[in-house]
Amino acid sequence: MATAKHILVINGPNLNLLGTREREHYGSDTLAAIEARLAEQAGRAGARLDTVQSNSEAELVERIQQAGRDKVDFIIINPAAYTHTSVAMRDALAAVGIPFVEVHLSNIFAREAFRHQSYFTDLAVGIISGLGARGYELALAFALQHSKQS
Ligand code: DQA
Repeated sequence: MATAKHILVINGPNLNLLGTREREHYGSDTLAAIEARLAEQAGRAGARLDTVQSNSEAELVERIQQAGRDKVDFIIINPAAYTHTSVAMRDALAAVGIPFVEVHLSNIFAREAFRHQSYFTDLAVGIISGLGARGYELALAFALQHSKQS
């Protein structure tokens, strides 16, 4: 029997404040509520879902390296502010070679110029930006169907 698909959802700095933080950009769902919906969605599909949020770049790099050792099948990542700054997280994703989708709650291309640049997009399978919390669910639906070959 095939082993259950293992998916990791990574959220970067300040996303622990979802629900109260700049709701005009990020909506009113808490991260806990978003993660609970994702857990349900993964559970229905018989997949294993892990989640992590950290405000620390070093911790996020370590977690990506750990995903490589754990042979995680797919990553969904909202690097938050590190989207625009982190060569270290980009290099970690390139090193482990795990396919990933980049998610942003807001449309980063419709905001300040410094948010238009991402260190992740060219390595990503794809990007979802501006669909709010729904973006995570759509990314997970994709991840659940994504085969190792594709
Ligand atoms: C964000 C967009 C980033 O520019 C910002 O720094 C965030 C959240 C988003 O989900 O829209 O913290 O990644």
